[in-house]
Parts: sequence; C-alpha cells; structure tokens
Amino acid sequence: MPNPLFGKDVVSIRDFTRSDFETIFEAVTKISSMPPKERRFLAEGRILGLIFYEPSSRTRLSFESAMYSIGGHCIGITDPSTASIEKGENFTDTVIVVSGYVDLLVIRHPREGAARYAADISEKPVINAGSGAEEHPTQAMLDLYTIYREKKRIDGLTIGIMGDLRYSRTVYSLLYALSKYDTKIRLISPPELKLRPDALIDVRKSSWTQHSRLDEVISELDVLYVTRIQKERFPDPAEYQRVKGSYYVDVSILERGKSDLIVMHPLPRVDEIKPEVDKLPQAKYFLQAKLGKDLRAALLALILNPEF
Ligand code: NCD
Repeated sequence: MPNPLFGKDVVSIRDFTRSDFETIFEAVTKISSMPPKERRFLAEGRILGLIFYEPSSRTRLSFESAMYSIGGHCIGITDPSTASIEKGENFTDTVIVVSGYVDLLVIRHPREGAARYAADISEKPVINAGSGAEEHPTQAMLDLYTIYREKKRIDGLTIGIMGDLRYSRTVYSLLYALSKYDTKIRLISPPELKLRPDALIDVRKSSWTQHSRLDEVISELDVLYVTRIQKERFPDPAEYQRVKGSYYVDVSILERGKSDLIVMHPLPRVDEIKPEVDKLPQAKYFLQAKLGKDLRAALLALILNPEF
C-alpha cells in the first residue's frame, strides 16, 4: 500500500483527515533525524516547479530549501513580469506547459479557486501555496505540527485566533483543520474583520466563540495565533485605514495569560506583535517558520515516494 499522500494534490486542507495529519507529523520527525546523505535520495532527479503570482518569502523559500534538502531541483516563475505571462499568456497555458517540465507544482495565485483549477488541468500533483483569501493548506499543516510539537497534543486545547479573520487565508485553513480535533476556539477581531459567514459551516463543528478584545479570553488560552491585516485584499483603502493598528499583542497582555501559552503567527508580521514579545519564551513564530522547511520536505517526500 502506498502512503496515503502519494501522488496527491494539496488544494484544500478539507481534503485531509486526522490520520493524514498524523502521517505528515511522523514523516517530519523521520525526515528531521535522517542524515543528509540518506535524505538526498528522497527526491533525487526530481524537479519542483514554482509558479507564484503573489509575493512570498517563507513559503517559496522553505519549499525550495526543502526540495534541495531531499536531493531535488527547483525551477519556477516567481516574478510574472519576467515570464510569458507578461506577453499575455494565460494561467491555463502556463500550468499545462510547466506541469510538463516538472514532477510537482507549487502555485500561489490571488484568485480563490485558482489552485483547484490548476490541479484539474495539471499533469502532475499541485500544491496550493495560497489561493486568494481562500486557503493556504501547507501553512495549516505547519501550524498544526507546531502546536502538536509544542503542546504534545491538539485535542483539549483552547486556541485563540486573532486578527484579520475576514481575509487571512491561513486562518481558514487552520480552522478547517482544527475542526477535525476537539478544541475550543476563541475568534478575536475588530467587528469589521470577523470571519466570513460562509466558513462557519466547518468551524461550527468546533466549540467556538467570537470576541472583539483579547483581554476577554487571554487567561484561558493555550495557543494564541495572530495574523496581520491583509491590506492587499481590502476592496476599499478607506476601510483598511479604519482598522489599521486596531489590535496588537504586547508583553503586558501576555503577563495575564497562562505561563505556558504559546504565541504563533504565519508571518510576515507588521505591527500586531510588538518586537518586545520576541524574547519571551511564549514567542514561537520564528520557530514555526523554521519548522516549515522540514514540514514541506516531509510533504514533498510523501507525495513523491509511495514507500515513504
Ligand atoms: C501568509 C500568506 O501568504 O497567506 N504568509 C505565509 O505564507 N506565511 C500570511 C500573510 O501573508 O499574512
């Protein structure tokens, strides 16, 4: 029996089960302790194609670094202005052509539905590295893994998710993933940035409440997950100006939380976590970003190797 992720697209986190998450967690542990020489056989001679229509630092670089670390190579379009897209080539043709050159594709696109569409037309498996405000499934895998690694469990935790809940795609993927566990969710945001109602279908499976202030819930949280305001997704710049700077985490609010609370953030951070928090033991966002390399190496190894 091949591993359950072999040859699979990663479009939505909703397509994955708890047992798939466990397979991924085990693979990360395994790959992290593998000597580099052995690791290099996992993608020897394989090519990863990256097509990024939106800016990225961590996601793209961690995928590239992950692929190199398991012996593979990367090619890609990371600046559409230097590719034939600039000459008017459409997304469909770009995906069809690039999928013929590679073993696996990673795509980031500003439109919801773009990753699903790409997976339908691509010859090779497609990994969604962010589809508009819709989803960012590999970030959710990383977020779950970070929680699991730090807390040794996911069931039974109280998880606060604070920030731009309206447009943050990482929040949606994380909430869908958490709906497969038994957690309490506290959603914290200014009223204008509340969760989009269409997402509540899945989130309702968890026990959740909505709040406008962090101090209402800080004392009960085991995990606080913060996101930046997604300025680029606001249809009206005046709306962004109204909510800009409306929430932040500092040392004094964390002093009122549990001593083993962990603070996470998909990054990039703008001003929603004060730099003074970085030196506290609660701050796990840089660790979270670092774990992204091995998490993605494990995911690539599982998709490329039936036996891994
Ligand atoms: C996130 C994204 O692109 O959605 N970044 C990331 O991949 N770590 C979060 C964000 O841009 O705010």
